[in-house]
Amino acid sequence: MTPIATVLYRESEIRSRVRELGETITTDYAGRSPVFVSVLKGGAIFLADLFRHVDLPVRVDFMSISSYGSGTEGSGVVRILKDLDSDIGGEHVVVIEDIIDTGLTLSYLLSTLGARGPASIEICALLDKSVRRIPRLDIRYIGFDCPDRFVVGYGLDERERYRNLPFILAVEDQRALADDLDALLPFLGGEPPADAVG
Ligand code: IMP
Repeated sequence: MTPIATVLYRESEIRSRVRELGETITTDYAGRSPVFVSVLKGGAIFLADLFRHVDLPVRVDFMSISSYGSGTEGSGVVRILKDLDSDIGGEHVVVIEDIIDTGLTLSYLLSTLGARGPASIEICALLDKSVRRIPRLDIRYIGFDCPDRFVVGYGLDERERYRNLPFILAVEDQRALADDLDALLPFLGGEPPADAVG
């Protein structure tokens, strides 16, 4: 029987990769005070862990967006539900994303933020589903190159649930999860041992 989900990235793997990314950013931005812009809600979990590994006077700001329409592959045009609190003109901005899929949302966001005159703008994504990319995007910092699978946990949700899993699951049976949102509840009890299947 197909398991509903399997562990794709373990908590320990995520922890060490996030630490490495924080150290790289610390080196790259030495002497500067970058602004980390996180896109709610998923990106906030990654941001919270990442910026505690950045030994610089970093500032954080948040945006909340919603896509137009219900299709998963729209134009990327989004409505800003909550804008940044501060002006990013002249600032070194790092956009912190949980996952980049087609990249349409981010590419729209980058054009919006770019128009505000930042000194620089770079992307840091925990997961890069690069095989699905539509527009060209230069992603400076990538946690993991993610396979073309639906993933949940560590900020990523299925209908607003499971963001609090400290590891990342690949959903093997999306239909079963669509039918029963509780199907992943056993995973909330903790990460299964390395040799176990979902
Ligand atoms: P894009 O515009 O196609 O790059 O969409 C990116 C957004 O889709 C992400 O910020 C997530 O909110 C959502 N998304 C894409 N893939 C997944 C996934 O596998 N699990 C959960 N959310 C996803």
